[in-house]
Amino acid sequence: MSIAVVQETLTIEHRVLVPPGISGTVTAVSPEGEYRVEDTIAVVSGEQGETRLSLFHRWPVRKGRPYRSKALPNSLLITGQRVIDTLFPIAKGGSVAVPGGFGTGKTILQHALAKWCDAQVIIFIGCGERGNEMTDVLTEFPRIVDPRTGRPLMERTIMIANTSNMPVAAREASIYTGITMAEYYRDMGYHVAVMADSTSRWAEALRELSGRMEELPADEGFPSYLPTRLAEFYERAGMVETLGGREGSVSVIGSVSPPGGDFSEPVTQHSRRFVRGLWVLDRQLANARHYPAVSWLESYSEYVEDLGQWWESKGFPEWKSLRGEIMGLLQQENRLQQVVKLVGPDVLPDSQRIVLETCALFKNAFLQQDSFSPVDMFCPLEKQVKMLKLILLFHERGRRAIQKGATLVAVRGLTICRELMRMRQTVKNDEIEKLDRMAAELDRSMNELEARYERR
Ligand SMILES: Nc1ncnc2c1ncn2[C@@H]1O[C@H](COP(=O)(O)OP(=O)(O)OP(=O)(O)O)[C@@H](O)[C@H]1O
Ligand SMILES: [Mg+2]
Repeated sequence: MSIAVVQETLTIEHRVLVPPGISGTVTAVSPEGEYRVEDTIAVVSGEQGETRLSLFHRWPVRKGRPYRSKALPNSLLITGQRVIDTLFPIAKGGSVAVPGGFGTGKTILQHALAKWCDAQVIIFIGCGERGNEMTDVLTEFPRIVDPRTGRPLMERTIMIANTSNMPVAAREASIYTGITMAEYYRDMGYHVAVMADSTSRWAEALRELSGRMEELPADEGFPSYLPTRLAEFYERAGMVETLGGREGSVSVIGSVSPPGGDFSEPVTQHSRRFVRGLWVLDRQLANARHYPAVSWLESYSEYVEDLGQWWESKGFPEWKSLRGEIMGLLQQENRLQQVVKLVGPDVLPDSQRIVLETCALFKNAFLQQDSFSPVDMFCPLEKQVKMLKLILLFHERGRRAIQKGATLVAVRGLTICRELMRMRQTVKNDEIEKLDRMAAELDRSMNELEARYERR
């Protein structure tokens, strides 16, 4: 229950909560006005005696805060990142791990999520990583305007900094502090997203402390309770009905930095077991400057099934089938690429090469997303769906034209196809109708191409 409200920033109303476990009747209330955090603002009398309530209360950070009930996470946490929303979505109240070797783009991805995801409160835990990255957030976020509220992003962001040069003991606590704050805002009825960069540094802190306490080491020197700790952390994510009867959620996105990019190490392996989504960052994609380097073959999201309805309710009933179609093409492409590797692309007929062509278009025009380009850094759902539809339309029409005798070279040579390649940069978020015109133009060009071959 909340007993008072304080306007924390212009976008966040801080609802002062009665600590869990306190019940009874309110016997005194202070009048509205200005108070310090420790001043008494209400008194509750109950079985536990008389309790003075102030603007804050204490909570042991290692213990999850109680709630009334947990619900199935079934609404999308919109991130504006195409590869995530369209292919590997995370639900509000969901948990995802992001494993990726050195320099594959974990931090940039976490920053992009902190900027654009549609949670109301963001908790960013910089755990054992470079200090300058935290400084970047501090200097950048006050300047960026939240598209949903029109206020600086900093007003909804809480940062917990424990950079690599800070004490290890505090590193262990930083993750707990972050997730507890998230639960606290959740209990006020907010949707909160926690970004932890990186959970591997936290695990290393556990290892160091455990070593100093002379505990028996397990896998690679990590303490034997590492899996339990990781499970406890990710378990605190969820969509809940709070003790006060509100709806709130904590979504958790933890990056994992396996040493040497070796995903068989304990932190990656254990994290996998406790999350329902995995965005695997691929070294080869990063080397090829395909960002975000999320692997479409290794990543997964168990939220896809539960989110179909949500997309439908937002006016995109076709999302699930479009997604299924493109995932099918990507797998087909993977098999064809193996043939290409063995015997070269020339042996494939055009009817199969069109699959490679469509996937190349999808990777360049859709999956890649530039976090530094003002047009591309955030992609609304409507644009995502329309772009994907256009790419699948290209596939369908291209295949048909080839069946009717056109060559792949002729299909590829159409002006509209070159425009599709660039659409993520050329179509601004407030001119999405341009994509409809491109679809009409694609149909027209393909009709013309087919007609040319039919006449022969
Ligand atoms: N979405 C993106 N758009 C453009 N460039 C990107 C993107 N993602 C990553 N990069 C590039 O990759 C570089 C490394 O990214 P980042 O620092 O996020 O990697 P990291 O996985 O956090 O590395 P570390 O393991 O050292 O923490 C960035 O400096 C940037 O140049
Ligand atoms: Mg990093």
